[in-house]
Amino acid sequence: MDAYTCIIGKRDTRTYADKPIPPDALRRILQAGRMAGSAKNAQLSRFVLLEERERKQELAACGQFAAHIPWAPVVVAIVMPKEGRDFDAGRCAQNMMLAAHADGIASCPVSMHDQECARRVLSLPEGHKVPIVIAFGYPTDVPRAPGVPRTDLDELVHRERW
Ligand SMILES: Cc1cc2nc3c(=O)[nH]c(=O)nc-3n(C[C@H](O)[C@H](O)[C@H](O)COP(=O)(O)O)c2cc1C
Repeated sequence: MDAYTCIIGKRDTRTYADKPIPPDALRRILQAGRMAGSAKNAQLSRFVLLEERERKQELAACGQFAAHIPWAPVVVAIVMPKEGRDFDAGRCAQNMMLAAHADGIASCPVSMHDQECARRVLSLPEGHKVPIVIAFGYPTDVPRAPGVPRTDLDELVHRERW
């Protein structure tokens, strides 16, 4: 799969096959996150890997739309100090999700609306936040409901000025 096909074809997926992610595929995902650039190359993002069902259930309770988290074989919480830039976390997240997609692994980013809850579940040090959590798993055959189409390019792009 070339890079463009990978980017264009990635859809966020919330149902996962009961099939583990092999260690080499997981390493590639984490490596893709590691290689994301960051403002001033500060590299403030850290990844908390969750594979135990019970811990994933606890984390799911910290988000308002996170019910699928426990069913994903692997969940990665991106953690950074409070002063870290969410954009940097987003770059790690998208790198990881695209690397996974290229290997046939589906994913979905999940917001932690209750940050205190996420901090407690993940035993984070003081002054840290969880900008995003990502659920990873092989897709099922269950067809996805058609989502809202993306904004038309003509509406999205302004030339020279707004
Ligand atoms: C910052 C961010 C937070 C998101 N939080 C959630 C979430 O809490 N739960 C969820 O199911 N999806 C979440 N999503 C996924 C979006 O719903 C998804 O990207 C959007 O519907 C487009 O999906 P598609 O690429 O499959 O069309 C989040 C996406 C982003 C970028």
